[in-house]
Amino acid sequence: MEVRIAGKAGFCFGVNRAIEMARATVFERAGPVYSLGPLIHNPQVQARLAEMGIKEISDPVEADTGTLIIRSHGVEPAVLQTARARGLNIVDATCPFVHRAHVLARDLTAKGYQVVVVGDKNHPEVRGIIGWTGEQGLVIENADESSLLSLTGKIGIIAQTTQSLDNFKSTVEAISKTAAEIKVFNTICSATAERQQAALELARQVDVMVVAGGINSANTRKLVDICRKSGKTTYHVETAADLKQSWFRGAKVAGLTAGASTPDWIIEEVKRRMSDNEEMVSAEEGMKDAVEVKALRHGEIVKGVVVH
Ligand code: F3S
Repeated sequence: MEVRIAGKAGFCFGVNRAIEMARATVFERAGPVYSLGPLIHNPQVQARLAEMGIKEISDPVEADTGTLIIRSHGVEPAVLQTARARGLNIVDATCPFVHRAHVLARDLTAKGYQVVVVGDKNHPEVRGIIGWTGEQGLVIENADESSLLSLTGKIGIIAQTTQSLDNFKSTVEAISKTAAEIKVFNTICSATAERQQAALELARQVDVMVVAGGINSANTRKLVDICRKSGKTTYHVETAADLKQSWFRGAKVAGLTAGASTPDWIIEEVKRRMSDNEEMVSAEEGMKDAVEVKALRHGEIVKGVVVH
């Protein structure tokens, strides 16, 4: 079976940069190293970072000394102030594209604009951007929200970096109907759209799709959705161990893509295992044997082996 990988798949620039900064921090800084929340939504990478000694905390007050790594989503200024006040060293791995949204949020607020962030109210990136407006900013998820009607003055509009361009455009259009003046900054990062487009193109060319990435990774799940909506049978795996040979029966070409938080080594492992059908067959047969042995009573003999 031929396995094709999407033209754009896996780590985006910002996540890659954050992981490299975290690795360097462990080697260069003395004392404990903390990350504020998970650096990445991938359990395998998180486990490796934990082995390196990076401890995850949810609030800077949980650390008394050492270095605090800020993940690519960024944070509100109050969090940085708390960390500094506690004497923590800060390694700021905020993605530069998110940082641009912070600067715009701060400057628009200073110039008297009501900042509106088009995005997901509960996403940490959005909470961070709102923090840079001095908590004056509003979050609007889409053009249907009733709070749009109150937007009548000078409005400055920013997007969560992972927003879809269509949703951003329709929300801007709705705001422009009531606002006296608007300034619009398209802060959408192309990495997400590029991965989604590449996944869709590949899904159309293959018999079956596999998406590799954390089960809790929102951008990975979105790729799964897009591939399924294209009508192609699609499986979501975290690692090569989740693959099942039966998924590929009769398939000549399989496609593989991965979320922005999936490292290259997982993509490679999944690809190798998909390409090597024989290895998967024997692994599945081995599992079947194990189930059969479990169902037997002590002292019985299966395939020449006494069950203990
Ligand atoms: Fe940055 Fe875009 Fe990734 S904003 S963290 S490069 S999805």
